[in-house]
Amino acid sequence: MNLQTLENTLSQETFSDEDLLAFLSLTEPALCSRLWREAYDRTTRVHGNALWFRGLIEISNYCIYDCRYCGIRKGNHAAQRYTLTLDEIVEAARYAVRAGYGSVALQAGERTDEKFVSFVEEALVRIHRMSVEEGIAEGCGMTLSFGEQTEETYERWAQASGNRNALRYLLRIETSNLPLFRYLHSGQGGAQKTWEARLQSLALLRKLGYQVGTGVMIGIPGQSLADLVRDIRTFESLDVDMLGMGPYLVSHGGAMVEDGMMQKDVLLTLTRNMLAATRLALPTVNIAAATALETLVPGGRSLGVLSGCNVMMPNVTPQRTRASYQLYDNKQGTEAEPDSNVELEKELVAVTGREIGRHRYGSSLHFRSRRGLPAA
Ligand code: 5AD
Repeated sequence: MNLQTLENTLSQETFSDEDLLAFLSLTEPALCSRLWREAYDRTTRVHGNALWFRGLIEISNYCIYDCRYCGIRKGNHAAQRYTLTLDEIVEAARYAVRAGYGSVALQAGERTDEKFVSFVEEALVRIHRMSVEEGIAEGCGMTLSFGEQTEETYERWAQASGNRNALRYLLRIETSNLPLFRYLHSGQGGAQKTWEARLQSLALLRKLGYQVGTGVMIGIPGQSLADLVRDIRTFESLDVDMLGMGPYLVSHGGAMVEDGMMQKDVLLTLTRNMLAATRLALPTVNIAAATALETLVPGGRSLGVLSGCNVMMPNVTPQRTRASYQLYDNKQGTEAEPDSNVELEKELVAVTGREIGRHRYGSSLHFRSRRGLPAA
């Protein structure tokens, strides 16, 4: 592809599978820059200049599954396990609310036992109450990321959140290459996942009124560019509101070290191409710049924003437990205190030209149009 054919393709409003494959295949710096710039400009046109923040709280790293790629899989006996206290969770959320983030994102390793389900329920009730006390009339926005659960559990959490208009759930499909999905989730040290169960959970979440987010890892050993195109088509057919995607990074606590990992600069380019191609294909969804991107290269999340992302999830987990939430090697920010986010904010604004959309929910335009809600 040369610059002229790229310009012609970019002038379209919709894109064929061949177009998306061509975007993903770009390696020439001038062409890549042009693609990323187009994704950034379209993001501005559709979403405006605001970058939405969600304060990320990693509440526990216990997990019943044994996903090969993940450092907190059950079979990794070297992982130091922890669960934050309710007070720690509420204080972390308070920090995010006071910083004006508007929403918190709660994540943990997966558990389905009643003790965990009611613990999360209690945390949601307390965060909602705290945020109302802090002056957010309807309560802060909440994004949950606790994996596959029953309909009853999803509904209990929805009620506990206290504000269904800003209630979201992130559940990545990881890859739409089904043999690869099976390989990734066939670790022997814990329960195993199925593609069918994953899709069913996404359907349940949609039915219960959550804003639904999914995503994939980019550059998984054995994943092809055609797989990534299919991933984008899968996001479309699931009609998702949000996406979170980052590079696959090898984890020494995982069970696929011998499968290797893409070379860093190639992986960075591919990740940015995928973010940009996804933005062009799905203009109205919210796309988050993943922490994995920051781990791949310092300033990586800013590069994500410059490739079409419009959501950032700064970590506000207390320092005490951060290093233990190690999904992949050298996770960025494990030494940092929540206050270091002030530096992140400055850097982001300077590098990306965005402004931080404070004191707003920042729900995706896709969701708002679907539900007839006006303001972000
Ligand atoms: N590299 C990149 N992302 C990872 N995740 C888990 N392990 C890794 C890894 N080794 C991502 C998965 C999961 C999310 C919580 O973290 O996509 O859905």
